[in-house]
Amino acid sequence: MKAVTWHGKRDVRVETVPDPTIQEPTDAVIRVTTTNICGSDLHLYEVLGPFMDSGDILGHEPMGVVEEVGSEVGDLKVGDRVVIPFQVACGSCWMCQQQLYTQCETTQVREHGSGAALFGYSKLYGQIPGGQAEYLRVPQAQFTHIKVPDGPPDERFVYLSDVLPTAWQAVAYADAPKDGTLLVLGLGPIGDMATRIASYQGTRVIGADLVPERLERAKARGIETIDLREHGSKVGDAVRDLTGGRGTDAVVDAVGMEAHGSPITKTIQQMAGLLPDFVARPVFENAGVDRLHALYTAIDAVRRGGTVSLSGVYGGMADPMPMMTMFDKQIQLRMGQANVKKWVPDILPLLTDDDPLGVDAFHTHSVPLDQAPEMYSTFQKKQDGCVKVLLKP
Ligand SMILES: NC(=O)c1ccc[n+]([C@@H]2O[C@H](COP(=O)([O-])OP(=O)(O)OC[C@H]3O[C@@H](n4cnc5c(N)ncnc54)[C@H](O)[C@@H]3O)[C@@H](O)[C@H]2O)c1
Ligand SMILES: [Zn+2]
Ligand SMILES: [Zn+2]
Repeated sequence: MKAVTWHGKRDVRVETVPDPTIQEPTDAVIRVTTTNICGSDLHLYEVLGPFMDSGDILGHEPMGVVEEVGSEVGDLKVGDRVVIPFQVACGSCWMCQQQLYTQCETTQVREHGSGAALFGYSKLYGQIPGGQAEYLRVPQAQFTHIKVPDGPPDERFVYLSDVLPTAWQAVAYADAPKDGTLLVLGLGPIGDMATRIASYQGTRVIGADLVPERLERAKARGIETIDLREHGSKVGDAVRDLTGGRGTDAVVDAVGMEAHGSPITKTIQQMAGLLPDFVARPVFENAGVDRLHALYTAIDAVRRGGTVSLSGVYGGMADPMPMMTMFDKQIQLRMGQANVKKWVPDILPLLTDDDPLGVDAFHTHSVPLDQAPEMYSTFQKKQDGCVKVLLKP
């Protein structure tokens, strides 16, 4: 089969690899019909190389049709149309009973001190071959699947693998009060979807980013926006100006560790390079190069007693947190990988023809699997208005 494989920093390829087979009675193999590129894949593309082997198959946002099943997959049948969650979970251990599926005790990667195994996500998460491929072996398939109805296009359901439950959990953890306010930092796929969910639920939402097309997308759906290129490190002030001086009830950080790691720093540099000096300098100085920039912004912009919800993935232990401010402001901080299947019953009723969250047209690019290498690059560089890429094997 054809699959997208990792070969080094900014080097992914489409190669022919052996077809996956059933290895355990709880396995299934699916034929992949749509499979997305995620902001999390960019961490592997750029900084998590030490945990990857050449030839590892990438991807954790697939859907398709069950092709083959083991003898212990419950009611999963050949021919079922399924979306595969990004995490492998058994559904029956103590953690799964608490619906903490990202902590599944059956699949935890203890060797690296990590939670549940993830598809296509490095040795840290079990080195499970990923879903950017023609076929995918699904371990713990009795639980690791979401059945979806035949009929509507893949675009309707494919975000159940990650974007929808991640954004949903981010908003749920933010827990803005009724008629409250929410700041969403980062308007990539996760932040964009979080703004849609929160505003659908009646919350006043402010979104912040520095990529013009992403700000426009949010604005077009009635979201108030803050452009980082104008406000830099003064985002907190801009938020307070919009909220009677207080800050928002809650903040979702949908940026994560590469906020100002190399790719985004480069974006800022590229953008700043196009600007006159007197504008460019504040962009450099204010947008900052700190990997925790977004988190600090969140802590600054949230009102006293408010909640900060982190969905952006953070790695590394060294960065200090502003503990004094967090303590003084009595902030609640909640975070983690999304427990996908916990939220599916809340989300599925919104995936109708009315399409209140706008999922049918959420992607900006839909291309054959062969074009994955170009699309990784385009997505990372935020070129061509790229927000979400669907690959069609
Ligand atoms: N918790 C989970 O289960 C989970 C699941 C999927 C993705 N993620 C993580 O969520 C994050 C976002 O994912 P994505 O797919 O939307 O990625 P993305 O990289 O497309 O989006 C990040 C956005 O943040 C913007 N940004 C950068 N620095 C900023 C700053 N200081 N303030 C405001 N905005 C800033 C960027 O311009 C970009 O639009 C990533 O870290 C990803 O790994 C977490
Ligand atoms: Zn993802
Ligand atoms: Zn489990």
